[in-house]
Amino acid sequence: MTPDPAKVAILISGRGSNMRRLIDAADNYEVVLVASNRPDAPGLDWAAERGIATWSEDSRGQDRAAFDDKLAVAIETSGAGTIALAGFMRILGPDFIRRFEGRMLNIHPSLLPKYKGLDTHARALEAGDAVHGCSVHVVTEELDAGEVVAQAEVPVKEGDTVSTLEARVLAEEHRLYPAALARFVAR
Ligand code: GRF
Repeated sequence: MTPDPAKVAILISGRGSNMRRLIDAADNYEVVLVASNRPDAPGLDWAAERGIATWSEDSRGQDRAAFDDKLAVAIETSGAGTIALAGFMRILGPDFIRRFEGRMLNIHPSLLPKYKGLDTHARALEAGDAVHGCSVHVVTEELDAGEVVAQAEVPVKEGDTVSTLEARVLAEEHRLYPAALARFVAR
């Protein structure tokens, strides 16, 4: 199938709250596939109940290139021309990234280029930052390093813990990601 930029595949590994927002807010794009490297990801059932095609396979213990290739075939078969990573916790290999170059977005819970990788909220608290936030960026081979297409800031408040700060950032993620994806598919 010829990939259509307005057809979106979402990749998840877990609860999928960003995935739900991307689906509920879909306007100028259509979510045609939700794929996961964890067959028990709660987001899969939610998507299936809404009639969206799902694909999953446990990536644990699998050769990276072999798993990536199966995932890529599922995406290509769906006709998706845009891929939105939403809490997808497996690193994608260089061949996969090249196959979908410039067509993949990710949401990351920090103000990139600050705090690439994991434990972003703890690191922002540890550093005593007054502001924290989230970024939507293009996925490239280097982790969390592609072009930032949208960002939202939140204040860090007195007495914040990782969970209070995470909740404040997540609320912004839910607002930011659908808007950024809508702009991305139209560009
Ligand atoms: C979000 O914080 C996102 O920024 C990060 O992983 C988390 C996924 O949460 N990449 P959810 O599965 O979308 O609820």
